[in-house]
Amino acid sequence: HMQKVILVGFGFMGGIHAQAYAQIPEAKIVAIVDTLPDKAREQGDKIGLQVPIFGSLKEALAEVEADVVDVCLPTDLHADAVLTALAAKKNVFCEKPLTISMANATKIKAALKKAKTKFMVGQCLRFWPEYQAFEEFVKSKRAGKLLSLTLQRRAGRPGYSVDDWLNKGKRSMGAAVDLHIHDTDYVVHLLGTPQAVFATATKDFSGYSHIFTNYIYKGISVQAEGGWNYGKSWGFQMAFQAVFENGSVEMDSTQTPSIKYTIGDAKAEPLPVTAPSAGESKAGTGNLSSLGGYYNELRYFINCLEHRSTPKIATLEHGAESLRVVFAELKSAATGKVVKL
Ligand SMILES: NC(=O)c1ccc[n+]([C@@H]2O[C@H](COP(=O)([O-])OP(=O)(O)OC[C@H]3O[C@@H](n4cnc5c(N)ncnc54)[C@H](O)[C@@H]3O)[C@@H](O)[C@H]2O)c1
Repeated sequence: HMQKVILVGFGFMGGIHAQAYAQIPEAKIVAIVDTLPDKAREQGDKIGLQVPIFGSLKEALAEVEADVVDVCLPTDLHADAVLTALAAKKNVFCEKPLTISMANATKIKAALKKAKTKFMVGQCLRFWPEYQAFEEFVKSKRAGKLLSLTLQRRAGRPGYSVDDWLNKGKRSMGAAVDLHIHDTDYVVHLLGTPQAVFATATKDFSGYSHIFTNYIYKGISVQAEGGWNYGKSWGFQMAFQAVFENGSVEMDSTQTPSIKYTIGDAKAEPLPVTAPSAGESKAGTGNLSSLGGYYNELRYFINCLEHRSTPKIATLEHGAESLRVVFAELKSAATGKVVKL
């Protein structure tokens, strides 16, 4: 079977997804939905994708036969598109963050229950080669128990988004949600929901543009920092450092090798990473070049559909839970109080 995909929103992330699907033989994009057809056609030509372009998902669903709706719209528009796709009984892949409110998340859960289709949220760190290698390292207990973990995600002010939606706090929920949710989701994935969170944050015209959170667990110290208020040409860095009873791991996306570990007092060694040869992005905007994590997540989703199995990684529940935790972080930053979960 060939999984036929309607790709909704063909900007930076839509371009990345299209290039990942091009390397998945069981998937094919059959239509694009975007309100800027000329820009969409131009990007399609650049990456070798020529399919019909529609102005709305409803039109595309009426005209084209499809199995999957993949939502890469600005975050404030996710819920509408997802609910439309579920009403049409389609399988849905929705980019992170799932949506901009818990009320929307509840509506989406009810709609999925009714549709009985398959659903995934693009919490791509769960599929990112270095983060997967670290997860395995933790589980292997090679260096004993994990004592502390600190994660960073830093970027220049986003300058590429259509209508500058990323810098509009009501649309993107600011860096604290849009960017930093990746690390929140990874922490929850690795260690479960924390007992509580305490956060401080920088607020500006784009909402919370730089957040510092402590995640409260028993017996392990965890913190994360996420911000996009650096200068536009600053670039992008994701990193983390972990200390174990008998060793450590350090990851830094700006270094080669990106991930290293130590055991006891021995010198640092590169930690082997299983990365698919998914190549580099040709989309040209945004700040991530390697397609690996995005290829892995879409490959997994299409595999699940092919085998009629329900995805277990980056599910709707996971996407909604990460949103709940990140909203608790916003509440903590706003009130100066520890917020229980
Ligand atoms: N997983 C990741 O690492 C990652 C990285 C970047 C962005 N994202 C997420 O992907 C989503 C899209 O972000 P982006 O960076 O691609 O933004 P973008 O501005 O580059 O692209 C959005 C696209 O949607 C189109 N659009 C806007 N309104 C529309 C409408 N009503 N109907 C149809 N099309 C419409 C725009 O024309 C544009 O092409 C966001 O939710 C963002 O948080 C995820």
